[in-house]
Parts: sequence; C-alpha cells; structure tokens
Amino acid sequence: MSLSDKGSATQDVIIRRLRKYDKELIINDFNNLNNEVLFSRFGLSVQPRGLHNYISNMFADAAFILGAFPDSCLRSVGELRLIPDQKHHIAEAAFTVEKVGQDQGIGDALLSRLITVAQNRGFREVHMLCLATNQKLRRLAAKHNAELVLVPGQVEASLTTPWPTPFSTAKEITDAYRAFARAVLSWSNHVHASNEAQD
Ligand SMILES: CC(C)(COP(=O)(O)OP(=O)(O)OC[C@H]1O[C@@H](n2cnc3c(N)ncnc32)[C@H](O)[C@@H]1OP(=O)(O)O)[C@@H](O)C(=O)NCCC(=O)NCCS
Repeated sequence: MSLSDKGSATQDVIIRRLRKYDKELIINDFNNLNNEVLFSRFGLSVQPRGLHNYISNMFADAAFILGAFPDSCLRSVGELRLIPDQKHHIAEAAFTVEKVGQDQGIGDALLSRLITVAQNRGFREVHMLCLATNQKLRRLAAKHNAELVLVPGQVEASLTTPWPTPFSTAKEITDAYRAFARAVLSWSNHVHASNEAQD
C-alpha cells in the first residue's frame, strides 16, 4: 500500500472508546488474533483460558479502551492504564491490530489517539513495553518521538511496570529472560495534534 493510500485509508477508520457493552466485539477481535500477534502483545504464549480471563478483567481497573473499526468491524484494540504507585502521573499503553489490518496505518492512528487521551487526562508520560524484536512497534514509537530504552535481559527493570496481565507472571518472564524495549513518550518533546477520542 502506498503512503497516500495509507493516509486516506486511516482517515476512514472510525476510532472510538469501547465500553463494557462492547465486550463481545472485543472477544471477537481477540479471537481473530493469531499466535504471533498475541505473543508480541503479551510477550508470552497465550492460552485461550488466559485470554478469556484477561478480557474479563479488562474494564475492571479503570482502563481507557479504544477500538478501531476500519471496515465496520473492530480490528484493533488499544488500552491505556495508569501505572500504580508511580510518583508521576504515568500511563502504560498496549494495543493490537489484527493481522488482516496491519501495515495500513491503523496502529499509528490508534496510538495517536491513545497519546491524545493521555495528554488530555493529565498524564505526563506514556510507556509502552514490547519485545526488543518488535520492529513495527519500535518504528511507531520513533514516529511519535518516544525515547526508546532497551532492557536486554534486565528482567527486574521490565518487571517494575510490565503490562499487567493475569498470565504475565514474574516467573514466566524471568524464566524466559526476554529482552524488552521500553518506549517512553513524554510531552516535553512531543507535540501532538489529533483530537481526543470521543467519550
Ligand atoms: C505493532 C502493531 C500494533 C502495529 O500496527 P500496524 O497497524 O501494523 O501499524 P502501522 O501500519 O500503523 O505502522 C507500522 C509501521 O511499521 C513499519 N514497519 C512495518 N514492518 C517493519 C519492519 N519489519 N521494520 C521496521 N518497520 C516496519 C511500517 O512501515 C509502518 O511505518 P510507517 O508508517 O512509517 O510506514 C501491530 O503490528 C500489532 O498488533 N502487533 C502485535 C501486537 C504488538 O506488538 N503490540 C505492541 C506491544 S503492546
């Protein structure tokens, strides 16, 4: 897809806040994610039961959840969550795009909206944690002027604020000793023009 095609494609993408009543749409979307996408999203192999539990708890702790509808179906879900016990007001973002919708600018569009939501809610930083091999996420982080910190093998560092999932247990991550990249977006070097997502 050319850049101009990509631009017009993302202009047509509806992005809106997801609520509890959207849970069935979210379940469908997560069920459409292949193993590769799930592994990149969670940093672990994900079993159906774990995924079910995760979705069940998604709205439990005041997360702000956005969904992208490029073809009238929900194809991408992004989550923004306050990192607890932080001195500063910091959020963590995580998101997926179904394989069929990737490389069309949807991830970029969703991340832009998540950043705007965070800014408008007074967060000073947004962190994203991904596997160091995740080139697409690293590209998106760079596009949004994130400071990228590689934490190879530094399990303790990544465990301080990993994306909270029922199955991302310390032991699993420690056993794997995976290398992570932490992308930190802060507003001092970030200027963003998109509009806030509709509540
Ligand atoms: C990361 C993810 C959300 C990106 O979604 P997407 O809709 O494909 O992203 P976009 O199309 O908006 O942008 C992808 C960018 O990466 C670039 N890219 C694609 N493949 C690449 C590669 N191998 N190396 C470097 N950059 C690459 C694209 O060119 C594009 O950059 P551009 O806009 O400058 O051209 C999606 O791949 C995904 O769901 N991955 C699995 C889950 C995950 O990793 N989530 C993030 C951690 S929580």
